[in-house]
Amino acid sequence: MTRPPTIFSDFDFKEFDRWQRQHYLLKSARKANAWAPLNTNKGAVIIDVGTGNGIWALEMANQYPTVQVLGLDRLLPNDQNGPENLRFVQCDVNESWPMSDNAVDFIFQRSMSDAMKQVEWGPLLKEMYRVLKPGGYIELIENDFWRHNPGPVQQAFDSFIQEQCKMTGVDFQLTDSLDTLVEETGFDQIDKKTMDIPLGEWPTDQELKQFGFINKEAHKAMLKNYKEFYIKQWGLSGPDFDLAVHEVLEEFDEYHSFTRFHCWVARKPL
Ligand SMILES: C[S@@+](CC[C@H](N)C(=O)[O-])C[C@H]1O[C@@H](n2cnc3c(N)ncnc32)[C@H](O)[C@@H]1O
Repeated sequence: MTRPPTIFSDFDFKEFDRWQRQHYLLKSARKANAWAPLNTNKGAVIIDVGTGNGIWALEMANQYPTVQVLGLDRLLPNDQNGPENLRFVQCDVNESWPMSDNAVDFIFQRSMSDAMKQVEWGPLLKEMYRVLKPGGYIELIENDFWRHNPGPVQQAFDSFIQEQCKMTGVDFQLTDSLDTLVEETGFDQIDKKTMDIPLGEWPTDQELKQFGFINKEAHKAMLKNYKEFYIKQWGLSGPDFDLAVHEVLEEFDEYHSFTRFHCWVARKPL
């Protein structure tokens, strides 16, 4: 493995921060970093696909010191310090992974829906299947592209994203499509769970209210980070975009909006 120098932009650092906050949000809401049955025997191998800033991989490596954790990404994390059982590997996960058949115990992948084209999901799942040991598990986490209980401005954002997905070959309905794709790849014991995380402080339940606050802040950060993209692709002026963001954030509390996350756990048959 080589460690080529990676140069990060301000955008990358802002996105690293956003992903890290979402990591803590999902870990708190799920009460765990992983739901799949884990083999934590000495020498077991865990892969984090599209590891981002590597926080999930780092926490797993610290929690299971006898397990080897590999974070795969086309960009290496800016901070690669960590325990000896953690390694980051730079690769394109749409190509053949640098590991042999039946070598891995557990594969985790989160928030890759907008990075993958529709046609890439089948081959990606096949590659997971190839490298997994029989009896090994995958765990995939993705949220719906659209927000639930949207107000009118959020509906406009959702329609824009749907159009963008069409133009770029990304599957807007991925969270439905994955049900069939996981099964068709050959996985068994498929378990899909759905989790709704509020956007805003509208819940009366104290824990959900905290999650809603963080989720809304993460959404706001995403909109801010992608401002240039929206201005260019949507043809809005800067002030109009800022106004739309302001209104969307107000709407979340008014309409009780939420993000729906899905988690698939599935096994490669014995
Ligand atoms: C939205 S981030 C998610 C990061 C992390 N999984 C998390 O949940 O915090 C998507 C990550 O996938 C990586 N990625 C996207 N396409 C990739 C590809 N074809 N091969 C390897 N990594 C890829 C990006 O570099 C980015 O780090």
